[in-house]
Amino acid sequence: MNYAAILQTVGSLALISGVLSLLISLAEKVLNNYGVCELDINGGAKKISVQGGASLLSTLAAEKIFLPSACGGKATCGLCKVQVLEGAGPLLPTEEPYIPAEERARHMRLACQIKVKTNMKLVIPEELFNIREFNCQLVAMEDLTYDIKWLKLELPPGERIDFKAGQFVQFYSKPYGKVKEEVFRAYSISSRASEHDHIELLIRLVPGGLLTTYVHTVLKVGDQVRLSGPYGDFYLRGNCDEMVMIAGGSGLAPIRSLVYDVIEKGLDINMRFFFGANTVRDLYYIDEFRQIEKDHPNFTFIPCVATPNPEDNWTGPTGFVTVALKEQVADGNNKEAYLCGSPGMLNACIDILKDKGFTEDRIFFDKF
Ligand SMILES: Cc1cc2nc3c(=O)[nH]c(=O)nc-3n(C[C@H](O)[C@H](O)[C@H](O)COP(=O)(O)OP(=O)(O)OC[C@H]3O[C@@H](n4cnc5c(N)ncnc54)[C@H](O)[C@@H]3O)c2cc1C
Ligand code: FES
Repeated sequence: MNYAAILQTVGSLALISGVLSLLISLAEKVLNNYGVCELDINGGAKKISVQGGASLLSTLAAEKIFLPSACGGKATCGLCKVQVLEGAGPLLPTEEPYIPAEERARHMRLACQIKVKTNMKLVIPEELFNIREFNCQLVAMEDLTYDIKWLKLELPPGERIDFKAGQFVQFYSKPYGKVKEEVFRAYSISSRASEHDHIELLIRLVPGGLLTTYVHTVLKVGDQVRLSGPYGDFYLRGNCDEMVMIAGGSGLAPIRSLVYDVIEKGLDINMRFFFGANTVRDLYYIDEFRQIEKDHPNFTFIPCVATPNPEDNWTGPTGFVTVALKEQVADGNNKEAYLCGSPGMLNACIDILKDKGFTEDRIFFDKF
């Protein structure tokens, strides 16, 4: 084959592939054009017309109706559950692990997984309509450890956030580097629920993690940050004589808010806070909690270090937090447990608590 023939063949192939991709993109546009769909919410109490084609989660968010979500729509957190009485189609394989039989019978679905393709009938709990979006300014940021940052985010003048101690917000990043779209993740509020003009967060860097890399390497004091919230059912119940609190890593965030809540409300409840760290360099807020312990006799702080180095001169409890928990909590009588941290740590602690007589309705947790 001569040179001209080769060029002609390559040109024809390029033309064919160009036409094919044009046809595919046109087909996608036609197939995904579901037109305007009506969302009927809570038996007609609210009706909205939306453009079909996007996930139910993002369609509702565009209408300022925010469902909880921690994974950014990856079907790994199961928080975006919503009751869809009509219009969702069959359950998808990605939803199956999160929707048990009883919830399937009630037509619960993952809003991030189902697309709006037709008119839908939804049931959305009233409290979710109170969730709002805030355009905050990052006014301070500091390293608490080598991988945990403290962030202070101020609400725009005149705006206020009302949350229950223990709840979380969703934090939206901006596109950066190779990450071309915004991502959003859940972060527990570590500040006092009595403070309404700002919130504080504790964000641990997850190596390779999209949002935490943004926070730790791109975000600067003075930047604008979009948040929504508050979300979650991890908050103070207080129907007890004692709260056993357990946290690891950045799981300290909601516990800090809960401790201040009990103190500020003047509740007659004892608090014992077990804080687990791998090494001494993973500990933080130690002085603050020791001071609270001095000022408030109903609060006891028990930091536990799994593997202290000899040069750390660590004199506190050594070993996993589970060891101290087993030794120091006798039973579950008139006690509630509040746990926040990694699934592995929490599962081990919950097993111990149940052995000691804590019933499931007195154990509250956020796993992350
Ligand atoms: C209710 C709730 C409250 C939360 N509060 C906080 C908080 O106060 N502070 C905080 O730092 N985080 C908190 N998280 C975790 C947070 O939402 C993110 O999951 C986490 O910051 C990782 O986000 P990323 O985008 O950086 O990582 P991603 O891009 O989502 O993940 C990157 C990789 O890391 C893995 N990965 C994800 N999360 C973790 C993790 N925590 N540890 C180890 N590997 C992980 C993923 O499987 C993936 O392979 C909370 C989560 C929930 C559900
Ligand atoms: S499962 Fe996490 S947002 Fe839907």
